[in-house]
This record gives sequence, structure tokens and C-alpha cells, in this order.
Amino acid sequence: MTKQIIINTDIEKSTINKNIYGHFAEHLGRCIYEGFWVGEDSPIPNTNGIRNDVVEALKNINIPLLRWPGGCFADEYHWKDGIGPREGRKRMVNTHWGGVVENNHFGTHEFMMLCDMLGAEPYINGNVGSGTVLEMQEWIEYLTFEGESPMSNLRKENGREEPWKVKYFGVGNENWGCGGNMRPQYYSDLYRQFQTYVRNYGDNKLYKIAGGANVDDYNWTEVLMRESAPLMDGLSLHYYTIPGDFWEGKGSATDPSESEWFITMQKALHMDELITKHSTIMDKYDPDKRIGMIIDEWGTWFDVEPGTNPGFLYQQNTIRDALVAGLHFHIFHEHSDRVHMTNIAQTINVLQSVLLTEGEKMILTPTYHVFEMFKVHQDAQFLSVSADVQSYKMDEKELPQVSVSVSKAANGEVNISLCNIDTKNDAPLSLQLRGLTEGEPKVTGRVLTADKTNSHNTFDQPENVSPKELKNINVSEGGLSVTLPPMSVSVITLSN
Ligand code: AHR
Repeated sequence: MTKQIIINTDIEKSTINKNIYGHFAEHLGRCIYEGFWVGEDSPIPNTNGIRNDVVEALKNINIPLLRWPGGCFADEYHWKDGIGPREGRKRMVNTHWGGVVENNHFGTHEFMMLCDMLGAEPYINGNVGSGTVLEMQEWIEYLTFEGESPMSNLRKENGREEPWKVKYFGVGNENWGCGGNMRPQYYSDLYRQFQTYVRNYGDNKLYKIAGGANVDDYNWTEVLMRESAPLMDGLSLHYYTIPGDFWEGKGSATDPSESEWFITMQKALHMDELITKHSTIMDKYDPDKRIGMIIDEWGTWFDVEPGTNPGFLYQQNTIRDALVAGLHFHIFHEHSDRVHMTNIAQTINVLQSVLLTEGEKMILTPTYHVFEMFKVHQDAQFLSVSADVQSYKMDEKELPQVSVSVSKAANGEVNISLCNIDTKNDAPLSLQLRGLTEGEPKVTGRVLTADKTNSHNTFDQPENVSPKELKNINVSEGGLSVTLPPMSVSVITLSN
């Protein structure tokens, strides 16, 4: 049955911060090494050690910012190990991620160069769990101080005369777990202490992000907001979509049963409840919404690909991941008055990646295509929509079959993104367009879909799941009608 969606093109609710489309790269598995960094002597085409294909692909999705060096790795990372001549850098054990040797060849200078090449803002995560206040203070000084000082002089000795601009700085990561197993009161006090020395030098103004809650730990948010809100600009939240059990078996990335598909969608949609409840607490202490909710780790987490190092968290990426990404972005748009940044975990070769590499080959995943199709929402105005949609049912449970989100870009273009999460049924829709003033618009559409729940791209078939033209859009007075295929993510663009 055709369902109706009303789009109020004249009611703008909030700005969708482009940083909602942010990324995360940790020293984990093959994300940094092989993914971004191959070294200057590699036969893989690179610029100063960084893969050219990766840079080009990420620029194509307007990557706004990149979080580094972790994750759990951040609270074991000592930044001075990663500066100076590479051959002299300390080799350490990456205890969290496979116990492999970390040679520190990718450090501060390499990361800042990468951000420069991508045109992305750096988001650096400092070490609270095993670091010192002095170490964090000196990192900021090394990065951003222009004048004469020990750290600024050291930076110059290492070949960088000018300070860098750094805005986003995280004071610890998951300090309730791998970042020190702390209680919220204790971390809150440490946050207050550490952030004191995260200083603004010259005109470099830092945006300080406090380590936030795990999933539904609302007490953590309550304590942090009550005790430290005036001293932070952002508070993080981590939530992964895991269809199974974290310890007993998360489920296969490429072989979901119908019920695992349903549970994955249900768990992805749970993000809405989490943001709503954490926001309610934040509103109590920050009614003007000055402090950003920073969801700096999100995405699917499945069992690793058979035969790969369990500590490397390498998983394939299917049409199911594309729908999870689409649903998340719609939820983030809905909460864009509070959600100022999010970072998918992780950019390359780890968890819900946008790129996978194998030697000199690189493929774009279905999730990549969602980032590419949705880039039109970056910094656009989020529009009011009311939707009446069918249910997607399984046993006694049901979910909305279709999710929709609409924004208006600075050039007046209206972009409607739509996800049909049903594995079998089409979604016939009538879209009513209220408030258009310029007459009948030009309408175009693209769709990402597949015929199997496990469809994905491989190094032999890299285009298996890729966007196509959405053909069946019928324009009528005041609106349009369209039928979304099962398991699809679409974007319809209205322009003049
Ligand atoms: O993204 C993988 C890990 O998940 C991160 O290192 C950690 O912060 C989280 O638990």
C-alpha cells in the first residue's frame, strides 16, 4: 500500500554539522599501517608514505575530520615515541590489538600531514589512562605553540617550523574501561585536572572533548555534566551495533540470517533512544546546548573474517552495513541540535570500514557509498518531515520499514534520503512537498541496493554493490511518487 510522507521545505529545524560525517583511525590491525601508511619506499603509489588511492577516495566523500590515534590505543600512546627520525623511533607492543610490534613510523607529523592532504580537521585523542598531565601539556605545546619554548623548539628541530592548527582534542578514551577502569567521579576529577593544561596558544582555540559514557551508562553522563560541564566543549558517547553477544559471538559480517538482519536494524535504531536519554541529562546542565554530544565511535561490530587475526577486527561490509549507516545518519540529523560530531569506527580495514585494502588494491564498501550519497547533507538545513510508513515485521516485533531524512543545501537543493530496511518488500511512497516556491523542480535520484542480504564488494568484484540511477520517480503537482526496492538506500534531489 502506498504510504505518505509530507516534507515541509520551508521549515528548517537545525543545521546538520558536517562533522557528523567524521571518521576514526586507530593504530589497530591494518587501519594505519597498510590502510593509510605504506611508507615512502612502497611500490604502492603514495605521497610521502601515504596511499594516493585512499586520499583520493576520502576527499571524494568530503571527509571533514579524522580522529586519531585511538581508541584504546590512545591511552597507551606516548606521543614522543612517534617523532624524530623514523629509524630511531621506539618500537612498542600494541597490547590491545594483537600484541604486534608498533614501530611508531606513523606519528604526529605523519598524521598532521595526512589531515592536510585530506583537507580534514585533526581530532587528536590524548592519553589519560597511562599518561601524565605533563605529557599532554607538552603535546599541545609541540603542536600549537609558535614562540620560543622547549616543545616548540623540538618541533622545529624535527622539521616543522610553523605550529599546526588543532581544534578538536579528546582528554582520554573509554576511561570507564580500556582507558583506566575508572569510576565517573574519579575520571571527572582527572578530566578537570588534565584539561587545565590543554592550553590555547596564540589564536589556536581548542575544543575540549571529555570521555563520555558507554552505551546506556546514564550515570556517567550525569556525573560528568554535573561536575565538569563548564570545562568541556564536547562529551563523547560510544555505541556499536552488535547483533549477537559481544563475548559469545557477535555474528557473521557476511552471512546474516533473516532474524540477525532484523536484530541488526533494531539495534541500529536503538541509537535514537540513547541519544534522547543522554541528551535529556545534558539539557539539565546545559539547556542552551553549548556542549556537543560527540559520538566518536559507532558502527557495526561483527566476528572477524575467518582466518584473520582476531586482534585486528577486520570484517567485510555488506548492504546491511549500508542500511545501518543510513539509519544512523538519519538519527544524527534528527538530533543535530545536540550531536555536533560523530566518527565511524573505523575508516579502513577495521570494523565498519568505508575502504578495504589488499596490497595495492583498494575497494569502496557499501558504507562508503552511503557517505558519498549523503555528503549533500553536510552543513545543510535539516527540514521538518512527517511520515506514515509500513511496518517491517518479524515474529511479534515490528520496526518502521522506511526511514527518511530531508535537508536543504545552501544552493537551495532539497535532498531526501530514504532507507527501506525490509529484506523482501518494496516501499511505494507518495512524497508531498510543502512550501516550494520556485515551481516544479528538476528531480533526480540514486539508489544503492542488492538482491541478497550479504551482497558486498570484493577485490575481484569491486562494483557489485554501487549506486545506480533511481528510475521510477513520477513527478506530479505538489509532490512525487516513488517505489523503493527492498534493502535500499536512496537519495532524491530536487533542484531548480
Ligand atoms: O574501535 C575499536 C575499539 O572499540 C576502540 O579502540 C575502543 O575505544 C572501543 O572499545
